[in-house]
Amino acid sequence: MNTWMVSGVSAIFFLLVSTGLFFFVVTRGALVLRGLSSGSQSEKSHVYPIYSNMRLIKLVDFQPIISTILLFQYHRLVSKIVSELKQLDLGNKKVLITSCAFGNVIPRVVKAAVQAGVERVLIADIIHNELIHTKSKLGDFSGKVDFIEDNATSMKQGDGVVAANVIFFLLHELPHHLKGQALSEAGRMLAPGGKLLLAEFHRPELWVLRALSWTYFKVFEPLGLALWDTHDPLSCLENMGGWTCERTTYFFGNFQIITATKQ
Ligand SMILES: C[S@@+](CC[C@H](N)C(=O)[O-])C[C@H]1O[C@@H](n2cnc3c(N)ncnc32)[C@H](O)[C@@H]1O
Repeated sequence: MNTWMVSGVSAIFFLLVSTGLFFFVVTRGALVLRGLSSGSQSEKSHVYPIYSNMRLIKLVDFQPIISTILLFQYHRLVSKIVSELKQLDLGNKKVLITSCAFGNVIPRVVKAAVQAGVERVLIADIIHNELIHTKSKLGDFSGKVDFIEDNATSMKQGDGVVAANVIFFLLHELPHHLKGQALSEAGRMLAPGGKLLLAEFHRPELWVLRALSWTYFKVFEPLGLALWDTHDPLSCLENMGGWTCERTTYFFGNFQIITATKQ
């Protein structure tokens, strides 16, 4: 190998390691530190700094980064949610988006809901900065949206008030005992016949991908691995009863969209 190649390989290695380190520090590393400090726990203790610090939110919320984290499946996953929404008659009805997310998922979902005649879109998040940031991405559509600071596991909304509820990659970040609560809150707020559209990680079929994915979760997001078995959202919904569910998986089973209709 000549010097030029050695420098190139070293630069790529350095970039990958520093990116990994950065994400570790602003996600799991921060939670470990938080757990060690004597401060009291709150309902926001599980939320990573990349979702609460405005500078970090703006730094990370860059479509190519988000698409890479989701192995370039982001567009397909959002398109599935959008096409499900487009099939609904949302005239004089409300759609809820439970928790903000990076990338263009929220603008695309809001646009689809507005085109399907929605009366209001409610966007709920436990972090105020996320709501401000999301509003900045919505342009004129923000006039159709209510931004609500709320906790997905104990929402202030009444029973049966929304026709659809979109939950995009929230469950894997919640402590295990809150995963089921978020699903049961989602069901409580849906009107009969309403749709829950849930995007999440899923246990990959290919062993190589499973090994890489397992390593990713162990290092960065240990709360996510339970979605593969003990806290599989489809099983949780089926055990809860009152749902008709359909699951579509993507990229060798690494991701899933569950469309659950409330009976
Ligand atoms: C949906 S998840 C992450 C999604 C994914 N990593 C992405 O951005 O594409 C992140 C969001 O969930 C919010 N969040 C976390 N716990 C919450 C809770 N209990 N209730 C409502 N929002 C919550 C965070 O504030 C953040 O805005």
